[in-house]
Amino acid sequence: MARYEIIGGNQLNGTVTISGAKNAAVAILPAALLVNGKCRVENVPDISDVRILLSILEDMGVVIQREPNGVVELDCTNIRNTNPNPELVCKMRASYYLMGALLSRFGKASVALPGGCSFASRPIDQHLKGFRALGAKVTETEEYVHLEPGENGLQGNRVSLDVVSVGATINIIMAACLLPGQTIIENAAKEPHIVDLANFLNTMGARISGAGTDTVKIRGVESLQGGNYAIIPDQIEAGTYLAAVAAAGGNVLVQNVIPKHMSCITTKLAEMGAKIINYDDAIRIQSDGKLHCTTVKTRPYPGFPTDMQAQICVCMVVAEGLSKLTESVYETRFFGYCSELERMGAHIEVIGKTANVTGRPKLRAADVVARDLRAGAALVIAGLTAEGVTRVSDIHYVERGYERLVEKMTALGANIRKVED
Ligand code: UD1
Repeated sequence: MARYEIIGGNQLNGTVTISGAKNAAVAILPAALLVNGKCRVENVPDISDVRILLSILEDMGVVIQREPNGVVELDCTNIRNTNPNPELVCKMRASYYLMGALLSRFGKASVALPGGCSFASRPIDQHLKGFRALGAKVTETEEYVHLEPGENGLQGNRVSLDVVSVGATINIIMAACLLPGQTIIENAAKEPHIVDLANFLNTMGARISGAGTDTVKIRGVESLQGGNYAIIPDQIEAGTYLAAVAAAGGNVLVQNVIPKHMSCITTKLAEMGAKIINYDDAIRIQSDGKLHCTTVKTRPYPGFPTDMQAQICVCMVVAEGLSKLTESVYETRFFGYCSELERMGAHIEVIGKTANVTGRPKLRAADVVARDLRAGAALVIAGLTAEGVTRVSDIHYVERGYERLVEKMTALGANIRKVED
């Protein structure tokens, strides 16, 4: 068990470089299974979700070479085992992408149900609806999903999603890539990592158009060949550092970002009083830590991301006035961290999907528990602003998605260390 110990009160200054996007990496690495050859992927973040995924792929026979600078080479020519290790699969959420990739390349898949952060009920019915529409026979057991060709075989088709789902959109794109005919996904999600996954597959020879809009078309091809690809920067990691500077105060250049992906977040931080300057691939944020209240509603991209809900909540907690934070993607996401923030002195009243946050200038340090990835990141930000020593335990959640968090925060002047028990 490990924890972070944070002595709050320092402002953050300097430059931080954002890593490759977690949610793009965890889609692109399993998508390499579609490629009959070698893929060289750059900007792969060194986080625990990626390490688990690479172990799953290696166990299946993918030959993997990892360089220290975020480059991963995957050779998926000779897959010897199409049954991913269930113990590893259930350690993370995005392992569900193995279903779409294996179905497309090998016509069948048996994959354990995914694990990952459980801040809400996270069904995969839309993924399975998509596979069925493509002709798969889907058998669900308590622990597994089995996919095989149905009576009429596998082929492209029209799929209309009942809810806008990032995971289902990506999984159906992967599943359709190597099937005969055209697949059209309607009511698709538009997140930047969906576009990144489509760009990766197109670089390898796929024919996908419309990614980033609500209608994605995939014309099946016979096979994909290898190639090089660089993953986009992580929108949520960047947003987390921006929120940390806004709340703790300071002057930081957040580099290796795509400012357009960040505008839903920077607009709100500017509204709260932080000064934001956009460059081509960097954002400068300046804040004196004195923020004003605001109203935020999470929505699918290009709206304010649910994965930034907890971090913006900390900004609201230390801002002046009454803020309103409404969650519209996951109903129960507040419960992962609001009670922990209250132990640090925050005033948060959750009524249904909305948290009413009454700001107070200073939080006090406390021993708090990270219950999921973004909740943990929010508690780190809270610790940076609090008086005294905040101890955040269960940080394995945070390490799922933040590369070298302690090193990056320390370089900005934060007083944070990782303590192993
Ligand atoms: C992805 C992200 C996660 C983020 C979320 C929403 C990855 C690996 N994870 O998760 O960090 O919080 O998008 O931006 O990219 N739903 C269904 N049925 C389904 C699928 C989803 O009802 O089959 C519902 C979910 O319960 C949720 C909503 O749709 O209410 C959106 O979920 P979805 O976009 O699928 O999230 P994930 O892909 O799991």
